[in-house]
Amino acid sequence: MRTIAILGSTGSIGTQALDIISANPDEFSVAGLTAHSNIGKLKEQIDAFKPKAVAVMEREKAEVLAEEIDYAVPVLAGLAGIHSIATMQETDAVINSLVGSVGVTPTLKALDAGKRVCLANKETLVAAGDIVMQKAQQREAELLPIDSEHSAIFQCMRGVDDGEVRKLILTCSGGAFRDKSIGEMRSLTAKDALMHPTWKMGSKITIDSATLMNKGFEVIEAHHLFGMAYDAIEVVKHPQSIIHSLIELNDNAVLAQLGWPDMRIPIQYALSYPDRIPSSARPFSLIDVKQLTFGEIDAKRFPCLGYALLAGKAGGTMPAVLNAANEVAVHAFLNDEISFPDISRMVKEALDSHTLIRRPDIDEILEVDMRVKNEVRNTISEQ
Ligand SMILES: NC(=O)c1ccc[n+]([C@@H]2O[C@H](COP(=O)([O-])OP(=O)(O)OC[C@H]3O[C@@H](n4cnc5c(N)ncnc54)[C@H](OP(=O)(O)O)[C@@H]3O)[C@@H](O)[C@H]2O)c1
Repeated sequence: MRTIAILGSTGSIGTQALDIISANPDEFSVAGLTAHSNIGKLKEQIDAFKPKAVAVMEREKAEVLAEEIDYAVPVLAGLAGIHSIATMQETDAVINSLVGSVGVTPTLKALDAGKRVCLANKETLVAAGDIVMQKAQQREAELLPIDSEHSAIFQCMRGVDDGEVRKLILTCSGGAFRDKSIGEMRSLTAKDALMHPTWKMGSKITIDSATLMNKGFEVIEAHHLFGMAYDAIEVVKHPQSIIHSLIELNDNAVLAQLGWPDMRIPIQYALSYPDRIPSSARPFSLIDVKQLTFGEIDAKRFPCLGYALLAGKAGGTMPAVLNAANEVAVHAFLNDEISFPDISRMVKEALDSHTLIRRPDIDEILEVDMRVKNEVRNTISEQ
């Protein structure tokens, strides 16, 4: 029996993780849950899973929840509360399914406490990849990917020796605007961008998928998780999202992992690893798939992918700047405050005006994150 804490249990990944836990009561149980502000959903989860403690980021909401619940469970508040859930003594594994750079310190705390971290929060490795990987290594803690592309690579890597992998190939659906021209993109709204063609996800990652910043983040994550040089990571458009990613070996053999676009498979694998247990996900059928197609990414229409690669290669604080500017710009786009092309423009401006710190410590990364977010917010409110 593995005892699990879920940071961001009320979100898309968090609720799917709870579905897996409730379908496998002999394998997994819940120790702790966290939400930002959705205390209605958190209350339902408390009733269903009886965690030992929960945390709510918004302090006032934490107080309201504490008054409302019948089941006696400590309700912690703020980031300190999330850190407490990330490090609970009775927990074996922590799913980090928070959205945004707020996920960085909970990941570090959980690794420091020696927990298995099942990582969905991609901003963790984008903003602080070197520090996070170093922490996992120092503490000999497992850091397992939930992202479907990285889970695919992780699964393909089993049984492959270090040094045998020549290239990682990340597949990319192309996002909601994959067939739109630059001209059309100017007038598209958040509502349009939220219609992802193959995956159903939280709003931030769905916009990141439309700009392809999400794929840029994934290249940075893959660089850290698998220790591959940026030039050995390729991105290929694959609209059906059936092949989740591939690895190319020294002898030109290529291994791939396939399945329907269903996050329950990679989430469950991170929880059950190294075992595989039955899943309620729909069984796969090549006959039903019929056709798989591939193509090149049009870098001109999706500049965010290029900015992410530049930031990743520059290293130091640059990926944290990329992430911070993107977080604020995406938030503003979701609120209809800026246009779709403004997202990439703001990210570029933030990168261009940043003075790189080559080997930042975690305080410097968090300081840069906060400063860039404030700067981009000011730019948006002034325009
Ligand atoms: N969804 C997917 O299929 C998928 C696939 C691969 C990777 N990911 C990555 O996984 C992460 C989560 O994605 P998601 O789609 O599950 O997001 P989501 O549906 O928006 O859920 C985010 C969760 O984090 C909480 N949260 C949001 N902002 C917070 C803050 N400032 N402080 C504390 N908690 C906060 C939310 O609480 P409330 O509900 O109270 O707001 C919610 O529980 C992201 O990094 C995403 O890129 C997602």
